[in-house]
Amino acid sequence: MIRFSNIFLKFDGRQVLQNISMDVPAGQTQVILGGSGCGKTTTLRLILGLLHPESGSIVINGQEIVGLTERQMASIRAQMAMVFQGAALFDSLTVRENVGYRLWEEGALDNESIEQRVAESLRFVGLEDTLDKMPAELSGGMKKRVAIARALACKPKIILYDEPTAGLDPINTHLVSELVCRLHREEHVTQIVVTHDLECAYRIADRLIMIHRGEAIFDGSVDALQASDDPRIRTFLRPEEVLAEPGCFPHKDGGVRVVPPMSEKAEQAPA
Ligand SMILES: Nc1ncnc2c1ncn2[C@@H]1O[C@H](COP(=O)(O)OP(=O)(O)O)[C@@H](O)[C@H]1O
Ligand SMILES: [Mg+2]
Repeated sequence: MIRFSNIFLKFDGRQVLQNISMDVPAGQTQVILGGSGCGKTTTLRLILGLLHPESGSIVINGQEIVGLTERQMASIRAQMAMVFQGAALFDSLTVRENVGYRLWEEGALDNESIEQRVAESLRFVGLEDTLDKMPAELSGGMKKRVAIARALACKPKIILYDEPTAGLDPINTHLVSELVCRLHREEHVTQIVVTHDLECAYRIADRLIMIHRGEAIFDGSVDALQASDDPRIRTFLRPEEVLAEPGCFPHKDGGVRVVPPMSEKAEQAPA
């Protein structure tokens, strides 16, 4: 279980997260939706204990993590794995070494068990034949699936994903979404997925929150999100409807601002 209560965070005096609360029950998939720069990655970094909020509480599996020392945080972090934006594989290591890296570092398993875990994780993502390949030999979608295998190899209770389908082709977008669904159904992993990919979000989410300019403006089911009449949400979900007229741009209050055509502006300009 992951619970955020009234989280506030500033960067350089600028309020980046404002009163964010969310409740993710064990085994559920929570999607955090929102445009670029709204505070999604920051939220994941708070869960990993890499950032500290200005105020508020973050409870992970019953333990408050705000105020923990780096050492205390390490045992909580051991239950979590993160799939970074852009996969973040080690370029100089083979796929096998990338996937087994954390297990070898931890030193809790013997070599044979680690090899088994690596093979099993790669099989889960459909890449069991890439063991000895280098990351440079893989497509973007394959790299992302190796990154998921690497997260799985540690058998984490919680997996965090930062924009897992960004930049992927439709087939790999489908495969990655499907992996998240299978980890939910078959392994009962608690998952938090940060994304602005609506198709992926609708497919995988048990529950979503939407962040807009650092504030949670929605918390609920996919159906409730789609039925929302909040202009900020409607613009995000269906920009083609809300911004249909020529020269329409979203206004920061959630409304629409209309810019006159260039020719009109040119006529108004002094000669
Ligand atoms: N370490 C940092 N120092 C200062 N500003 C930051 C830092 N990290 C993120 N920000 C700012 O905080 C806001 C939210 O960032 P982020 O969480 O990365 O957004 P998202 O992942 O939703 O695109 C952005 O305006 C970003 O520029
Ligand atoms: Mg981000």
